[in-house]
Amino acid sequence: MTIVHLPRVDSTQSTIFDLAAQGASDRTVVVADYQAAGRGRRGRAWDAAPGTSLLTSILVRPRGTPERWGGYSLVSALAVADALARAASLSARLKWPNDVLVGDRKIAGILLESRMPAAGVAGPAGGPGVIAVGIGINLGQREFPASLAARATSVLRETERIVDRDAMLTALLEAFDGWRACLERDGLAPIRARWLVLADTIGRRVSVDGITGVAVDLDVDGALVLQDGERRHRIVAGEVGVL
Ligand code: BTN
Repeated sequence: MTIVHLPRVDSTQSTIFDLAAQGASDRTVVVADYQAAGRGRRGRAWDAAPGTSLLTSILVRPRGTPERWGGYSLVSALAVADALARAASLSARLKWPNDVLVGDRKIAGILLESRMPAAGVAGPAGGPGVIAVGIGINLGQREFPASLAARATSVLRETERIVDRDAMLTALLEAFDGWRACLERDGLAPIRARWLVLADTIGRRVSVDGITGVAVDLDVDGALVLQDGERRHRIVAGEVGVL
């Protein structure tokens, strides 16, 4: 595993794709002190003052066809929950698909972006594509901007302790490797089972991009299952709002 520490980047996600295009190997990791253009899900920004967060991206050259890559999203969430438990003694819960919560506040965000090589061009390692697994864990924030204050938390706020960024990174990478190996060896079933144990979403009445129902299950492929009276909906992507 190669770990690249950088003081400042636009986004560790962009850096990973640049390195991937130059032939960087699977499990290359970028960690930045500051991102000038950090990316969140659904086109949002992800801002963190220097020194407050673990900001990292992991290069994954995935196994299997793109339809199966959703498993890496659940793997990432399990890894963050494990890292928070090991490095900060925090019990995190997961909001579908991969927000990491302590209480009802978000302590970490995960963004998976993928790129396929141009038609007919094999990836540098002969693989078919690249996933950048981007993870931001709030470590040392005492306060958040007003727009986030009710929804965000940090390790410092939850534990009154400073947890070293590199200690959290070590725990995260170890957990990620473990869950990833499990996915690639045994498939989604054990990942799904663990996700369900940590799930905050199941049992709640939610709305996802206009579809409303009670979240009752995670399907075998990782889709969220909503029950709305007699009807069942499978949600494969979207933003869960708890009602
Ligand atoms: C979310 O919206 O919840 C996902 C946030 C993901 C943020 C991380 S920080 C490191 C990596 N680089 C980015 O630009 N985004 C991800």
